[in-house]
Amino acid sequence: MATQEDVFKKVTSHAKEYGFVFQSSEIYDGLSAVYDYGQTGSALKKNIKDYWWDAMVKMNENIVGIDSSIFMHPKTWKASGHVDAFNDPLIDNKDSKKRYRADVLVEEYIQNKLESKIDKEVKKAAKRFGDSFNETEFKTTNPRVLGYFEKINSIETRLKKVQEEEDMEGFKQLIVDLEIPCPVSGSKNWTDVRQFNLMFSTEIGSLSDGSTKIYLRPETAQGIFVNYLNVQKTGRMKIPFGIAQIGKAFRNEIVARQFVFRMREFEQMEMQFFVRPGEEDKWYEYWKETRMKWHRAIGFPEGSHKFHDHLKLAHYAKAAADIEFQFPFGFKELEGVHSRGNFDLSQHEEFSKKKLRYFDPEINESYIPNVVETSIGVDRMFLAVLSTAFTEEKLEDGSERTVLKLPSFLAPYKVAVLPLTKKDGLPEKARAIIDALKYDFECYYEEKDQIGKRYRRQDAIGTPFCITVDHQTLEDNTVTVRERDTMKQERVAIDHLEKLIGESVNVKNILKKLN
Ligand code: GAP
Repeated sequence: MATQEDVFKKVTSHAKEYGFVFQSSEIYDGLSAVYDYGQTGSALKKNIKDYWWDAMVKMNENIVGIDSSIFMHPKTWKASGHVDAFNDPLIDNKDSKKRYRADVLVEEYIQNKLESKIDKEVKKAAKRFGDSFNETEFKTTNPRVLGYFEKINSIETRLKKVQEEEDMEGFKQLIVDLEIPCPVSGSKNWTDVRQFNLMFSTEIGSLSDGSTKIYLRPETAQGIFVNYLNVQKTGRMKIPFGIAQIGKAFRNEIVARQFVFRMREFEQMEMQFFVRPGEEDKWYEYWKETRMKWHRAIGFPEGSHKFHDHLKLAHYAKAAADIEFQFPFGFKELEGVHSRGNFDLSQHEEFSKKKLRYFDPEINESYIPNVVETSIGVDRMFLAVLSTAFTEEKLEDGSERTVLKLPSFLAPYKVAVLPLTKKDGLPEKARAIIDALKYDFECYYEEKDQIGKRYRRQDAIGTPFCITVDHQTLEDNTVTVRERDTMKQERVAIDHLEKLIGESVNVKNILKKLN
């Protein structure tokens, strides 16, 4: 049976083979953790972004969108805390010269040395006891398993303490005590642990205060904060209101793996919701539920998502929860919902020396609003969609097919129009159908190879409908419509195509579920 790791490998190679994702600058052997989206990938990504934008901006009269720049005044990042606190603890192995995130070394130790042993004990016992095996009871009573849990607990408590106290000596001591070896050299010859800032910096021509170092934004949120009063005043917005934005963010990730899950250049879809002080808890709960609904409306299998409430909070947060998704490599963060208090706006007020207060006519008071943020990575959402859609099927005739069972409204192409042969006027008829449909749907034309092969290629990129134009079409203006998931074929009048396809692929059907 294929393991989850095998499935993930298949998804990544499928993504490349069918034009979804390429390694950046591949002809120069690529750039680590940087990827390009190809013809199908960029279309899928755009549809994901449209779904988010429609749900946030189009469906809510009190949320508006902006598009702020990647470069911002360097003081922005001092005020936001990113210059001082946006760090990862790093450690180098002196023999292999490889650099690691210290927290990841400890987490991997827990996974490989302790959790895997618990799994082994559980599997062994399940085999021994057969149907009468009760996993929960076994895990809470077996002395060996309890011992492993105790060890995990004590390591996690130490890890949390050194992280919270930013105790770099304590961090190194933890790695030494656990006798963690370098995965490459196998040696335990470690440097000290140092904090490493994740922001990329570059130089700008000239600034009035003489400083020239600027940063590539590590989150899009700050572009919203510094513009919040501009938008509020020019848009005559009343609290509570939101500002949404989709854009690139950059982080110098050291542990950069798992394909587009963790990248150095990625895209975020963020929304800051500005609320009256004291009302943030209510809105935090509201946005947690609303965002979960958005994920579930897509139609992923039950149980694909769960909340994970943060114990360790980012420097700006008062409360935070992740919406985790079951990726092929386990449940991982897909989106964050954060109650940021008035941290960012107060900091910007202090650093810019400009008043950033909102006058609330309902209570006749000026105040700095509190903020609830929703923040999701486009690339992670892309990976969630792609890996869930990826399906290998054995068919009744013994053959196999690989099909992307994408939600139809997200598919790169909605319909492929395929003339059965390259002659007898069939290509011309097929192109006339595309000319009628292309205003509403992304269409694909293909005439090469036998029809079965063409169907398989459309399955592989997730096209929900294939329309075959044959000689009967010239006589009665009907075509064969093949549906991707069921592979059922039916004869349909050309005049009915727009309605039939529209009913299945229109994002409106999904957006209505959100109300
Ligand atoms: N403004 C808040 C913020 O940036 P975050 O939890 O650091 O919060 C939000 O990031 C989301 O951005 C994450 O849930 C994830 O989906 C995405 N993200 C963060 N770092 C990423 C990376 N290196 N590669 C891809 N996506 C990333």
